[in-house]
Amino acid sequence: MRSRLRRGLICAAMIAVEALAGGCDYARMTNDEAVDRYEMEFPPMPQDLVPLGEGVHPLPTEPGAIENPLGAGREVLAAGKQAYDFYCRQCHGQGGDGRGTVGQSFAPLPTDLRSGYVQKQPDGQIFERVGKGYKRHPPLAYTVSIKDRWAVVSYIRSMKNPE
Ligand code: HEC
Repeated sequence: MRSRLRRGLICAAMIAVEALAGGCDYARMTNDEAVDRYEMEFPPMPQDLVPLGEGVHPLPTEPGAIENPLGAGREVLAAGKQAYDFYCRQCHGQGGDGRGTVGQSFAPLPTDLRSGYVQKQPDGQIFERVGKGYKRHPPLAYTVSIKDRWAVVSYIRSMKNPE
């Protein structure tokens, strides 16, 4: 009997504490910090930038202006060749001649990567066209990592120019 009374008292005390602390009046969802974020004014985006892929790699709207961050060292070219053989060779062929096995189903054939037309393009433009897609070119930004794409661009530069 006494323990019942004690339990009752504890319960009453808890209810009183709850009531003092605001009881069931939880904050409304709309007052939540996570929602407040959407009401904040967003900082202005720098001019001339568009976000591309992975949300962290803003590119200037003038892609030709972007420098290849990897350069053309031996390791970069080796990584570029490996990525090329994996992602591009089936269409663009060994050495970039545009005569890959899959590529032959395209008419006209995939672009000859050794050609002046490609070799005269700035690195950033090749990078962007491969990533976003260009005319009949598939967009590969979600297939080939940023690093591999730059390495492939360096590797394309090393292809012998037949002209
Ligand atoms: C499914 C086949 C296919 C794959 C895979 C592919 N390409 Fe292409 N690529 C093409 C075709 C087709 C064109 C011609 C596009 C056009 O002009 O319509 C082309 C064009 C190009 C061009 C010239 C774009 C221009 O400026 O006109 C470059 C550079 C290029 N590809 C690089 C690559 C690289 C690098 C990879 C691998 C990361 C790759 N491609 C993978 C089919 C492919």
